[in-house]
Amino acid sequence: MKRLAFLGVGSAIILGLGVMGASPAFADNGPHVATSGDMTVDRCAGCHRAHTAQDSYLLKTAQTSLCASCHGAGAPGSTTDVINGVSTAAGGGALRAGGFTKAAIDTASGVSKTSVFALGTPATTTSKHDVGADGTAWGGGASGQGTTMALECGSCHDPHGNGNWRILRPVAEGGTALTFPSPVSVTSVTKNATLSSGTTYYYDVVTSAANTFKVTNPVTFYGTTTADGLIGATVKVVTDTTHFTVSMRSVNVAVAATGGSVGYANPLAFAGVSGDGTTMTYKTWNVHGLAVGQKVTITGFTPAGYNVSAATITATPSTTTFSVAGTTTAAVTATGSMSGIADALGTKVYTTANYWQVDDHNYTGTNQASTTGTGIATAGGPTGFIANVSQWCSTCHTRVLAGSGAWDVNSGDAMYTFEHRSNNGKEGSPNCIQCHVAHGTNASASGTYSSAVGTEITGHAGDSFLLRVDNRGTCNMCHNL
Ligand code: HEC
Ligand code: HEC
Ligand code: HEC
Ligand code: HEC
Ligand code: HEC
Ligand code: HEC
Repeated sequence: MKRLAFLGVGSAIILGLGVMGASPAFADNGPHVATSGDMTVDRCAGCHRAHTAQDSYLLKTAQTSLCASCHGAGAPGSTTDVINGVSTAAGGGALRAGGFTKAAIDTASGVSKTSVFALGTPATTTSKHDVGADGTAWGGGASGQGTTMALECGSCHDPHGNGNWRILRPVAEGGTALTFPSPVSVTSVTKNATLSSGTTYYYDVVTSAANTFKVTNPVTFYGTTTADGLIGATVKVVTDTTHFTVSMRSVNVAVAATGGSVGYANPLAFAGVSGDGTTMTYKTWNVHGLAVGQKVTITGFTPAGYNVSAATITATPSTTTFSVAGTTTAAVTATGSMSGIADALGTKVYTTANYWQVDDHNYTGTNQASTTGTGIATAGGPTGFIANVSQWCSTCHTRVLAGSGAWDVNSGDAMYTFEHRSNNGKEGSPNCIQCHVAHGTNASASGTYSSAVGTEITGHAGDSFLLRVDNRGTCNMCHNL
């Protein structure tokens, strides 16, 4: 496998920055729990051989079969059979990610965007992330159909454990850390009365220095009087390098606002941090979806005291702030970012009652039905996984990340010209995992029209594109037309 090229920070906000050095113990699972400092460690032998290895990186067998030796059918080494898409734990159900050879998703029941789907009978997959083979990461790279890469379990997961959701690598191997326009200082924000109508409000923004925001970029204001409520507003019109217009549904800022800054609404990036000697409180550019008890690794701040490794969240004062213990009080001169998607809390068991919720509240069994709440404590508040997964998938599928209004704006890309929104971090809203599963699906694409889509791409006739529901039932989870 290629080793990950580590991109420099520069002034850009970079997704999932950070490669961990000495890893403290995390709430990971199985042999994937980091053990640095343990001088009698055992788990290495689960996967590595010093002299008789059969694959690169001294793996005892080829990587896909190595993982399948514990995560395959009837394999005793784990309770998650990702090959057949089922959990063999007591009370276990179909796996969230589907499966590689078979999946047990009840793909005919996508009646509601928040429904908990029952366990279906495992059936042969109709599309999958084909591990162990070369494939095209559609929408990867700068142009054309996509980038060809070797895909393995370890492309997406860190076999050694890293404290992230499902031990996902912060940036997938073969993928690229996304870069976003840098935050800039705001001169003024003024409501555009002409464009505003109904419950959609438009605001004209003037920045004091040149910015690189593009149409469809989601942006958030920070420290801007009265405009701070504009979290994830969308750039609709770019007039010149210091003037653009954003829109936002249902947020009506009455008076002209000044000061502060505007940044790309990426939950992994920080607008700032403050320390009082015992606590450091970080401010994200978007709703972070984190909860007390989850662990975060943060890099890129100056002074370095604000950078932490697997620090436990002690408070979430708001949906865009959270605190960890720390003694630094110095003023911040450079902001950093969070590494990866924080792991879920609680016991990792998949049951038929909870496996198919689109959120990551599956450990409590409580689905977050509303999409209008404002915090994790409130129904509808996003979770760390939902808030960040679209950016994560886009480290390989770079051009597929699309903001609100992308359906009405020509991106200039010859192939991905107009796109459905895919970056909404709220539950029940358009993000990758609301429409797709991560491993493979048994959804059928046999309908007259659905089956024809694949024929536009060589070798993909009847392709179900990892969708959760048969044909385009996925669309009617939200639109019901
Ligand atoms: C669950 C299987 C598994 C276990 C357990 C495991 N490894 Fe690995 N290891 C891998 C895989 C797979 C790779 C290749 C990753 C890639 O493709 O980049 C790897 C790569 C490595 C590498 C080189 C790249 C890197 O990530 O630094 C080292 C060194 C390494 N392992 C050491 C260890 C040691 C030491 C232990 C025990 C403390 C251990 N591994 C436990 C699966 C495992
Ligand atoms: C020696 C057995 C073994 C091998 C080999 C193994 N795993 Fe695991 N893995 C486990 C166990 C045990 C768990 C704990 C949960 C369970 O029972 O599935 C686990 C859990 C996981 C999880 C879920 C972690 C979480 O946070 O919930 C992922 C993802 C995973 N493994 C990926 C891999 C990948 C990728 C490979 C190959 C590089 C691999 N595993 C190889 C035993 C193994
Ligand atoms: C394209 C990236 C990708 C590849 C390749 C991949 N996974 Fe995953 N995997 C994910 C994501 C993302 C999730 C979390 C899905 C969710 O929570 O909805 C996941 C979840 C899991 C889980 C938890 C159970 C579940 O269904 O959520 C296990 C175990 C796991 N993967 C093991 C593996 C093994 C073993 C392989 C190789 C055979 C593999 N993964 C290949 C992205 C990948
Ligand atoms: C490591 C890079 C990588 C990551 C991360 C990744 N993908 Fe992929 N994706 C690929 C590759 C490579 C293929 C082509 C696979 C093949 O041809 O078997 C692909 C194919 C797909 C396809 C088309 C499958 C088909 O058969 O038509 C969909 C849909 C997809 N990915 C969605 C996602 C989603 C959703 C996520 C996040 C959960 C994700 N991908 C994360 C590399 C990646
Ligand atoms: C609103 C539902 C929806 C969302 C959100 C969504 N997709 Fe898709 N995706 C689809 C459908 C439907 C297809 C099948 C082809 C089509 O209709 O364009 C597809 C196809 C794909 C493909 C296959 C080839 C291609 O480019 O058409 C990839 C890769 C993909 N999606 C990745 C992603 C990623 C990554 C995200 C998140 C950033 C995402 N999708 C979000 C519905 C969605
Ligand atoms: C998770 C819910 C969800 C799913 C699933 C979904 N949509 Fe949407 N759709 C939305 C939202 C929300 C918007 C408005 C997005 C924006 O701000 O640009 C939208 C916008 C659209 C638009 C632009 C016009 C409008 O109504 O704003 C079209 C066309 C559309 N969707 C078609 C589809 C199709 C076709 C599918 C199935 C492939 C689909 N949608 C799946 C939620 C969804």
